[in-house]
Amino acid sequence: MSSDILVVDNVTKRFGGLTANADISFSMKEGEIIGLIGPNGAGKSTLFNCISCFYNADGGRIVFKGQEITRKDPESICRMGIGRTFQIVRTFKDMNVLENIMIGAFLRNPKRKDAQARSEEVANVFRFTDKLYLKATSLTISEQKRLEVARVFATGPKVMLLDEMMAGLNIHEIKESVELVLRLREMGITLVLVEHVMEGIMPIANRIVVLDYGEKIAEGTPDEVVNNEKVIEAYFGKKYAKRRENKTRIQ
Ligand SMILES: Nc1ncnc2c1ncn2[C@@H]1O[C@H](COP(=O)(O)OP(=O)(O)OP(=O)(O)O)[C@@H](O)[C@H]1O
Ligand SMILES: [Mg+2]
Repeated sequence: MSSDILVVDNVTKRFGGLTANADISFSMKEGEIIGLIGPNGAGKSTLFNCISCFYNADGGRIVFKGQEITRKDPESICRMGIGRTFQIVRTFKDMNVLENIMIGAFLRNPKRKDAQARSEEVANVFRFTDKLYLKATSLTISEQKRLEVARVFATGPKVMLLDEMMAGLNIHEIKESVELVLRLREMGITLVLVEHVMEGIMPIANRIVVLDYGEKIAEGTPDEVVNNEKVIEAYFGKKYAKRRENKTRIQ
């Protein structure tokens, strides 16, 4: 039996004539951080939607902890232990920080008192203790993104799928996000991060999977991927290749 916590096996998703995911396969072991990268429209968010069963894949299989989940529904997936965030922040704007986290905590703590206690613990992990009663709208974008991750964490996931949590953040906030991801891993969570922010993902990912036009074009360590000609051509662009070339020459 495989010891992989999550296996994506030849997953295909079509929208009419467009194949957004074409036979995508990769797997991950518990405690890994996987970066999922690729140009706009490559199919990264679609793959998250398939894994979390917001969409059901048209082909292939998704296996979580040895159990096939391909055709389940989002709530069952969340209950089983896969949590995901959305590319566009989805905080509940009229609720305060604590209530936002409680939405997640209710999944495994049906009693309000328990959900609140759990949410206060989660708020502490995510450094929201002094902001519990602020409305989500009064937070910065960076804080709102962190709040969304906190709400997902409060559902008690084993695997978290984070879609562009570092987009639009400044260097300082990116550093904080990186620290947060590493803390989540220390707490036993396996993570897949969709990112365009290379300085955020490259230093912490065990492996990078690269999509382009719905297909997986590369998989490897961050080093292998940044030196892969196909990836440079499809994603990093010629400018990046030129910079690399110059750097190589200087060394
Ligand atoms: N619900 C949908 N209906 C029709 N087409 C869709 C749908 N969702 C995504 N697509 C299309 O599938 C392709 C992959 O989109 P997806 O959002 O997965 O890309 P992405 O890699 O997440 O891109 P980005 O980096 O811009 O977020 C795109 O061509 C997109 O227009
Ligand atoms: Mg996307």
